[in-house]
Amino acid sequence: MRKKIVAGNWKMNLLPEEGKKLTSEIVNMAGDEVPNDVTLVICPPFIHLESVNKLTGDQEKVFLGAQNCHTEDSGAYTGEISVPMLKAVGASYVIIGHSERREYFGETDEFLAKKTDKILSAGMTPIFCCGESLEQREGGNYVSFVTDQISNSLFHLSADEIKKVVIAYEPIWAIGTGLTASPEQAQEMHEAIRKHLAEKYNQEIANSISILYGGSCKPGNAKELFACEDVDGGLIGGASLKSRDFVDIAKSY
Ligand code: G3P
Repeated sequence: MRKKIVAGNWKMNLLPEEGKKLTSEIVNMAGDEVPNDVTLVICPPFIHLESVNKLTGDQEKVFLGAQNCHTEDSGAYTGEISVPMLKAVGASYVIIGHSERREYFGETDEFLAKKTDKILSAGMTPIFCCGESLEQREGGNYVSFVTDQISNSLFHLSADEIKKVVIAYEPIWAIGTGLTASPEQAQEMHEAIRKHLAEKYNQEIANSISILYGGSCKPGNAKELFACEDVDGGLIGGASLKSRDFVDIAKSY
C-alpha cells in the first residue's frame, strides 16, 4: 500500500517565532485529527529546520522536509545547503525540481537527477516535482512534457531506488493562482505518470509510488482530489501556512 502524504511547502515565508507557532499548532492537532495512515511533512525555509525538528520529534505522524539541496556534500558553493547538513538537522524528505526553482535558477533535468541520487544515497526521500505550463496544457503536449521530466531525472534509478521516490505533480498554471486542476485533470496526469512508471519498471513498483498533487489544493477541494484513484495526497503551498487549513487538508481522505 503506497503512503498517503500531505506535505507543506512554506516556500520563503515565516520568521522564526511564526514558524514555531505554526509547527506547534500543527503538531497539537495532528495527534487527534489526522488519520493514522496519513503522513504529514513540514518543509520550511532552512532557518526553521532545527526548531521544527525539535517540535515535531515526538509526533510520529509529522516529518521534517527541506525545500532544496545541493548535489555535493560540501565545497565552494556559496549559499547552498548539502544533504548531509539537512540530514544532520533531522530532515528526511527533500523537495526537488519545484517549478519555481526550475524557472528562477535554471535547474535542469540532469541536475535534478544528481540531486535525486544524493538524497537517496543519504537514506532520505526525494519529493520530485513535475508539471506543465499553461501553454503546454493548451498546446496539448502536457502529458509527454511531464513524462519526459520523469524519464530524464528518474529513469536512471534502479527498481529498488525508484520505489523510494515520491512524485509531486504540480501544474504550473495552478500554483499560487487559485486555479486548481479539476479531479479529472489531476487523475488523467497521475494515471499517465503511473502508467509511465509501470512501462519502465513494472506495475507493482508503479503502484507502490506515492504521487501527490500540488497547485491551489485547499480544504474545499482536497476531498475530491484525494478521492482520485491515483492521487496519494498533496504538496501544499499557501494553505500550509495556516494550521487549520493544512490539517483539514490532511483530514480529507
Ligand atoms: O509546492 C507546492 C506549491 O507549489 C503549491 O502552491 O500555493 O498553489 O498551494 P499553492
